[in-house]
Amino acid sequence: MLAHLVGEYYDGNLEAAVAAALREVEGAYGLAIISADEPGILVAARKGSPLLVGVGENEWFVASDASPLLQYTRSVVYLDDGEMVVLSRDGYRVRNLETTRISKPVNQIDWDLAMVERNGYAHFMLKEICEQPESLCNTLRGHLLEEEGTARVSGLNMSDDQLKHVERIIITACGTSWHSALIGEYMLEEMARIPVEVEYASEFRYRNPVVDQRTLVIGISQSGETADTLAAIREAKRRGARTIGLVNVVGSTIAREVDGGIYLHAGPEVGVASTKAFTSQVAALALVTLRIARLRNLSILQGREFIQGLRVLPDQIAAILQRSSELEQLAERFLSTATNALYLGRGVNFPVALEGALKLKEISYIHAEGYPAAEMKHGPIALIDENMPVVFIAPKDAVHSKIVSNIEEVKARGGKVIALINEGDTEIERLADATFTIPVTLDLLTPILTSIPLQLLSYSVAVARGCNVDQPRNLAKSVTVE
Ligand code: AGP
Repeated sequence: MLAHLVGEYYDGNLEAAVAAALREVEGAYGLAIISADEPGILVAARKGSPLLVGVGENEWFVASDASPLLQYTRSVVYLDDGEMVVLSRDGYRVRNLETTRISKPVNQIDWDLAMVERNGYAHFMLKEICEQPESLCNTLRGHLLEEEGTARVSGLNMSDDQLKHVERIIITACGTSWHSALIGEYMLEEMARIPVEVEYASEFRYRNPVVDQRTLVIGISQSGETADTLAAIREAKRRGARTIGLVNVVGSTIAREVDGGIYLHAGPEVGVASTKAFTSQVAALALVTLRIARLRNLSILQGREFIQGLRVLPDQIAAILQRSSELEQLAERFLSTATNALYLGRGVNFPVALEGALKLKEISYIHAEGYPAAEMKHGPIALIDENMPVVFIAPKDAVHSKIVSNIEEVKARGGKVIALINEGDTEIERLADATFTIPVTLDLLTPILTSIPLQLLSYSVAVARGCNVDQPRNLAKSVTVE
């Protein structure tokens, strides 16, 4: 239809015909248009779907992502919505639908193709799970200020006075990024004492949210291109809120439209199931939390303790990854032939229960639900029988004794219990059918460790079931449509 519309306007100038046609068009598009009547000219345009120009040596490219360009060039120009580019043998010219030339910066891609390739791993997802000691280091690099017990987050483009006087925070995202947002809520309310609401971006954009210039809206997105999250951020800006982004893909649309932000620097995440981006999102939320908390009521010693907790996480993750064979056995014994599963957690590990369930269902197609452990007695406990594997996330945190009771409730009804516990937790070891131990860390940082075994568990189940781990059915890596 678009081709016909351009044809309607064509009178010997392809560029003008494309601009005229697109001025009439609603909805999202990412286009590259050529015409037999004008060989050597390629007109590209974007709205809602990412598009960028590769600037080579006397050669120019158009692509929807930087990865395929890497073998030709690292210099790229990111197009924004409503923009076009005209490529010819003489070069490229960026314009929009009204103005025939606009200037755009040329960015340099700082990661290489090897990072994108599988590097010998059976799947990208496994590679990315195993990269987390390094990706977490990269997320934290340059941000931790031990001496002052705070974090440097200058990319937020907010003064300390602005950060200190934030009255309310809304975090908006989708899927796994929404789960990291829930963890951010616990962190910010506990440490910075700021009221936080977490909103599904798809809901936020269509309801009539109370947002004004005193609200800070945080958008979290690995791809930086999720249509719902982008729309939610635009709606927040329209209402006067300051927006920041926690984004992995450099130069992505969300990263360029927010008022400031932190890049995750987790490296390319190819597997559809998000893993290293999740832990990096939680780490980035910890940095924002630390900065604000130290401007308000967190002491320098508390700040230093939090930094120390962050510093040792990469090594603790590496220690967990060393024991992946234990998780393969748990997967084989309890989950690979299951038709349903429950993931239960409390406090800051309730979002980890949601994330663990999402990982299992999206790559192994087993129906799984995450729940607050205490919520079971309000109905879902009716599901418990000997065929229901229940994964408990149960570190020795402030609510440990409560989760012990929840495990007993499940066991009393014949449920099979797999528990993630800290070393030396003999109480739950005695109760559960199987356990996997994780290192001890600060309560608010436990999700970065408890999520790792759940990633490996779901990966092992999906492989055992012969599923397409990196490209699960019905899913896309970046949901750029509604
Ligand atoms: C996560 O495993 C899923 N692939 C999906 O939920 C994803 O987190 C969601 O689509 C959001 O993507 P984004 O982080 O790129 O915005």
